[in-house]
Amino acid sequence: MKLFIDTANISEIEEASKWGVVSGVTTNPSLIAKEGQKLEDVIKKIVELVDGPISAEVDEGLAVDMVKQAKVLAKIHKNVVIKLPMTMEGIKACRELTDLGIHTNVTLIFSVHQALMACEAGATYISPFMGRMDDAGFKSKELIEDIVTLTSIHGYDTQIISASIRNLQHINDAALAGSDIATVPFKVLKQMVNHPLTTAGLKIFADASKK
Ligand code: E4P
Repeated sequence: MKLFIDTANISEIEEASKWGVVSGVTTNPSLIAKEGQKLEDVIKKIVELVDGPISAEVDEGLAVDMVKQAKVLAKIHKNVVIKLPMTMEGIKACRELTDLGIHTNVTLIFSVHQALMACEAGATYISPFMGRMDDAGFKSKELIEDIVTLTSIHGYDTQIISASIRNLQHINDAALAGSDIATVPFKVLKQMVNHPLTTAGLKIFADASKK
């Protein structure tokens, strides 16, 4: 499973890109707003740091307006992926952008039927949200398993980005369900090397070396 970083923070991307395990970046309007900069300006910086798919989300609205904004964003760099909302206008925009050869990521997916619509619209990526699914009292693990089944039995090329990752269990569940990608916040990515027994083992070895 590929790992993307889910942030618009340049320092976090700079540090994580040095680890050699991050192959893409996802942003959303909330993450961009936190940085207090224009979407285009943030995306221009990110494409210089990570050589992989960089998702930039358009403002939700009519397909015609989203396509217009998408064309401007797509011109920034070949790695820019247009993130579209899971609405009928978003699906229309997805089909149009796919036909133009522009890569897309349909976001805010919480069901198999939504995933199916996005796959049929030719989405390059779909983003089912794990944390928000659990918050609403549903089982995010089952959502990812079901969407993996959907794409595999029907042979869709669309790649699954497990999103809204809040903890290590989400990563384990996404990986074992067969998700293509997980997009992970910086804090959780950093925790991925940890295990209490690793920490304990390191101390035992360090103490032994001193003797
Ligand atoms: C996905 O691409 C989104 O940016 C993200 O994972 C949303 O996560 P949240 O539920 O923590 O806001």
